[in-house]
Amino acid sequence: MQDTPNALNALTTLIQAHNLSKVYRMGGGVEQAVHALRGVSLHIVQGDFVAIMGASGSGKSTLMNILGCLDLPTQGQYHLAGEAVESMAQDQLASIRNRRIGFVFQQFNLLPRTSALENVELPMVYAGVNATQRHERARAALERVGLLDRCEHTPSELSGGQQQRVAIARALVNQPQLILADEPTGALDSQTSQDIMRLLTELNVQGMTVVIVTHEADIAAWARRKLVFRDGQIVEDTERMPFAHWGTLVKRGTAP
Ligand SMILES: Nc1ncnc2c1ncn2[C@@H]1O[C@H](COP(=O)(O)OP(=O)(O)O)[C@@H](O)[C@H]1O
Ligand SMILES: [Mg+2]
Repeated sequence: MQDTPNALNALTTLIQAHNLSKVYRMGGGVEQAVHALRGVSLHIVQGDFVAIMGASGSGKSTLMNILGCLDLPTQGQYHLAGEAVESMAQDQLASIRNRRIGFVFQQFNLLPRTSALENVELPMVYAGVNATQRHERARAALERVGLLDRCEHTPSELSGGQQQRVAIARALVNQPQLILADEPTGALDSQTSQDIMRLLTELNVQGMTVVIVTHEADIAAWARRKLVFRDGQIVEDTERMPFAHWGTLVKRGTAP
């Protein structure tokens, strides 16, 4: 019998970054320049689950902002799903973000005094989805994160973990290929953090590529691959298991 084709076995490049550098210039003076990234090259395949660790100030968020097309590198090339990002104008960056990327932040970044449902609908407003579709898809996304019964609640009427679930529903509602989560559990207790990681793993099993930044080893342990940053460079790049093996394990629900 032949092997069953497994989508996760076919290695498709999602992120291809070459020699990225980022220099922040404070007040224009050269002596004030901060070299946040110093020649970072990175290749991430579609369907992977990657954790980024490293001390505060080592360049993790700077990299996430570039991977997320929120900011451009000072030098270097970045291709996302084959598209050359480094030469894009602001409107093209907004478009690729909206089509391909879902963001999750440490402080949830939900609109206050706005229901969970409306928060989740927002990326679809930007994408030009009509109201009926928006409503349906937002409800489906909230159901996927187990919060359909809270859809009329505002953020202040939800726990931290529930707010982060709403933020994840918002991140996935445009069916992105890539979820970027910068310290998604940084404001949560350890039990809730594990629940959020379980949810991100479920999305990974369903085919989304997940990249998270974390300070905690037990959070990074959920990922297949771990990168460590120091002073704007990747100083460690380890794989817990081969990619093909990961696909099989997560599908059985046995990872991590
Ligand atoms: N917008 C900015 N302007 C100037 N310096 C910045 C800016 N963002 C980050 N930095 C600096 O760049 C370096 C890397 O920051 P960051 O990527 O946020 O690190 P991390 O997320 O690993 O804590 C730090 O020295 C930080 O102070
Ligand atoms: Mg950071």
